[in-house]
Amino acid sequence: MTSIDPAHPVRVDVTAGGAASTILIGDGIADQLPALLDLNGIGPRRFLVSSQNVWRLHGAQFQRVLGAVEPILLPDGERYKNLQSVSKVYDALIRAGADRGSALIAIGGGVIGDSAGFAAATFLRGITLVQVPTTLLAQVDSSIGGKVGVNHTLGKNLIGAFHQARLVVIDPLLLATLPRREFRSGLYEVVKYGMIASRSLFDLLVSQTKAVFDRNPSVLVPAIVESCRIKADVVSKDERESGLRRILNYGHTVGHALEAVTKYRRYRHGEAIAYGMLAAADLAVARGALAGREREALAHLIAALGPLPPVLDLPMGDVLEAVRRDKKVVNGRLHFVIAIAIGATMTIDDVTEEELVAVLSRMGLKS
Ligand SMILES: NC(=O)c1ccc[n+]([C@@H]2O[C@H](COP(=O)([O-])OP(=O)(O)OC[C@H]3O[C@@H](n4cnc5c(N)ncnc54)[C@H](O)[C@@H]3O)[C@@H](O)[C@H]2O)c1
Ligand SMILES: [Zn+2]
Repeated sequence: MTSIDPAHPVRVDVTAGGAASTILIGDGIADQLPALLDLNGIGPRRFLVSSQNVWRLHGAQFQRVLGAVEPILLPDGERYKNLQSVSKVYDALIRAGADRGSALIAIGGGVIGDSAGFAAATFLRGITLVQVPTTLLAQVDSSIGGKVGVNHTLGKNLIGAFHQARLVVIDPLLLATLPRREFRSGLYEVVKYGMIASRSLFDLLVSQTKAVFDRNPSVLVPAIVESCRIKADVVSKDERESGLRRILNYGHTVGHALEAVTKYRRYRHGEAIAYGMLAAADLAVARGALAGREREALAHLIAALGPLPPVLDLPMGDVLEAVRRDKKVVNGRLHFVIAIAIGATMTIDDVTEEELVAVLSRMGLKS
């Protein structure tokens, strides 16, 4: 990892599906939003989408820099990441006479980014999207890579599109108001990037855990930059997840199953992924693909970033069933990403039911 001055913005480029996307990361850059939009060729007709909660906390700051703009406000929470919220955005755009040259600026966490992003992908067959992510998870993950979409009552993220944001403005200072649990949930995704691609990022989290918790810019900003670089690199090589992009799903096979079994109520996303990463590490150790001490290093870091909500009471059968239903099963074979060392992964597609049962038992689940 290169050394980074938190006050000096870093630029990361993504090229995917013929579209170029620029990511800018720096403390305080939200205050330069108008200039950044101009410099990156975003036209003057700009519509903001945010959530009631985010706007209550940060609306005054954005109005100070953008003028007296009226955002389209969507209700907060995963259960509102649906077509009704998207419709609200369409209604406002149509009423205001938005056209093909208009740009939609999403200011919020992943729920706002995904819903507003889907509206931008589909309104008039696609208008310019700008993301200003305000949660750690959105800054390192959901705002990058062009996946946008909403939930259906029968399942999560069932409706969606690929639509790269033209510009992603990441200001880590916006995280100052983020509740501790949300912040920690995002950190587990940062751990994931360390596991799949960067030993130095992993080591930074281990050696500077307290500074990370304190949101100390000298550690937090480089951690966000490195995470964004990894995601941008993977997406640039494989936007549509035909191969390489799957490594971003490290920890997500079991993680998604835990979320589904608890109806998305018990865990924040990153917390479920933390369990999923441990399960993937156990599986790799059992196969002799990962050294036991690397698994212990991961377990240590996850514990240091904890606590995690309990998992012991979940019925093993339900979790197995949810794993089978997950979209990572292709032609009946379960794709599973394992780390073979901290910073290196491979995908396997021959995971047996017995192996899964073994790792879930080790996690403490009872059959
Ligand atoms: N598109 C992708 O590639 C991708 C990747 C990962 C996750 N996701 C999606 O992202 C969503 C989760 O995103 P999330 O974790 O950001 O959750 P979220 O958007 O629900 O935000 C979490 C909470 O934080 C609040 N919040 C946001 N910014 C804040 C701030 N600066 N200060 C204080 N509170 C703030 C929100 O109001 C909300 O209550 C899920 O729907 C998931 O499917 C998408
Ligand atoms: Zn994730």
